[in-house]
Parts: sequence; C-alpha cells; structure tokens
Amino acid sequence: MSSALTGKVALVTGAGRGIGLVIAERLMADGARLVIANFDEAEAKAAAEEMSARSVDGKPPVVVPGNLADETVAKAAIDAAIDAYGRLDILVNNAGGGIIKPFAEHTPDTLRETIDRNLWTAIWCSYHALPVMRAQGGGRIVNIGADSVRNGLWDHAAYNAAKGGMHGMSTGLAREYARDGITVNTVAPCATNTPQMVEITERDPKLAEKFLSVIPMGRPAEMSEVASMVSYLSSDEASFITGQVISVNGGSTML
Ligand SMILES: NC(=O)c1ccc[n+]([C@@H]2O[C@H](COP(=O)([O-])OP(=O)(O)OC[C@H]3O[C@@H](n4cnc5c(N)ncnc54)[C@H](O)[C@@H]3O)[C@@H](O)[C@H]2O)c1
Repeated sequence: MSSALTGKVALVTGAGRGIGLVIAERLMADGARLVIANFDEAEAKAAAEEMSARSVDGKPPVVVPGNLADETVAKAAIDAAIDAYGRLDILVNNAGGGIIKPFAEHTPDTLRETIDRNLWTAIWCSYHALPVMRAQGGGRIVNIGADSVRNGLWDHAAYNAAKGGMHGMSTGLAREYARDGITVNTVAPCATNTPQMVEITERDPKLAEKFLSVIPMGRPAEMSEVASMVSYLSSDEASFITGQVISVNGGSTML
C-alpha cells in the first residue's frame, strides 16, 4: 500500500460488500477519505464501522444508503462528499452486479433491473460528479465494467448491454473532459473471487468451470487485483490515461 491518495476524497458505490468493499479498503489504505453509497444501509454501515479504525481521521466513512439508479440518491451521494469533506476527487462506479441468465429467460423486470443497477447508477453518479470535478480543476472516474463485454460470455447478453453502455460512456466522457484534468476509465474484471462466485461454484460447479475455462490463468481474479488497478487509475500518477477499458482478466481477452 502507499500514500498515493493522501488528501483525496473518494466516493465508492456499492461498497457494502464484494469488490466495492475491497476497493474502498484499498483507497483508504492509500490515504483517501471515503463516502460509501450502497443500496443496503445495514451492509454499508457495518462496512464503514469496520473500516473506521483504519481511516485517515479515525472516523468511519460517510454512508449514503439507497438506490443509485434514482437520480436523487446519486446526487445525495455527491452532496455528501462535499458536505463532509468539501470536495470529491475520485468516483468509483462499482455498484452493479449481474442477473446472469439466457436472454430469453429474462423478464421485463429483470432486464430493467440489470440496466438500472449497472448503467443508470453510473450515469447519475457521473452526471452529478463531473460539474464538481470540473469546478475543482480535476478528478478521476473509474467505472467497474466487465470483460464479458469483450468475450461474449454465456448468459451475459443483458448484463453486457448494461456494462457495454458503461464502457461506451467512459470513452465519450474521457474526450469531453480531457482538458479539465478529469480522466475517465473502466476496469473490466473477468470472473472474480467474490462471496457470490464462491456460492455459484458450490451451487453449480459446471457453470463456474465454464466461466473459468475462458481464463488462460485458470482461476478467477482476486478482488484485491481489481482494487489495485482502481487505485492506480485514481492516482495522480495515472494522469495521461483516459478513455481506456483495462481488463483485469488473467488473459481471458487479449488486445
Ligand atoms: N463478481 C464478478 O465476478 C464480477 C465480474 C465482472 C464485473 N463485476 C462487477 O463488479 C462490481 C462489483 O461486483 P460484486 O460481485 O462485488 O457485486 P455484489 O453483488 O457482491 O455487490 C454489489 C454491491 O452494489 C450494491 N448495489 C447494487 N445495485 C445498487 C444500486 N442500484 N444502488 C446502490 N447500490 C447498489 C449492492 O447493494 C452490493 O452491495 C459490479 O458492478 C459487477 O457487475 C463483477
């Protein structure tokens, strides 16, 4: 770990558990002060409480509960950073998660939920963060996309529609804000060793094996491997990297 993010304020969405929690912990270890926005309030509060002992100022991260696909909740998350810390340097659009099934087995509700969770959350948070970052003279947006957009993984079509939208938003915003000191990038993990992945492996080993079979390294990503790329892209050192989709994927797609 480093002090690369000392003095920075980061909002990590969906940080109550899984990859988002590990990203939040990594950014905190690198010196950032945090806001955690998460659908489930109890989950986020428990995560914040657990992190408080290691925070820069000894206080727990600020928690903003609610559905970030709702514009007002997304705005509240950005406002919370300004209210608590007076600035927002880093937005990590991590909230999401797949409803993974063959396209024909989706219902209208699961299709909408997939887009809400994975795309609208990122659109609204970016929409409200960018004016703040522009006024400050800079910032970092890191989106958590998915490598499945590149390899068309089984049962991922609806999810890829959402994550592909996120990948596309990154390139467009990167160009629009390139002269404002704001970089916008996407980190695209392959199957990652989250509690959910462990559960899938136990419930359906054949499906898990199928997802892992496309990864030359033969294993899922560790959450910390995703977090370290997010940390780097959030830092001042990554100042000339923008508009990129960077896979953390054990070689499952190669460009
Ligand atoms: N796990 C993987 O194998 C994998 C692979 C590629 C990409 N990803 C992406 O990485 C991110 C994290 O994945 P994970 O496996 O840790 O997911 P997860 O389901 O374990 O956690 C997602 C978190 O986001 C929150 N969230 C979801 N929708 C929200 C909303 N509308 N508003 C506010 N909070 C919301 C949930 O409450 C939860 O805490 C997701 O965007 C996911 O799509 C995961």
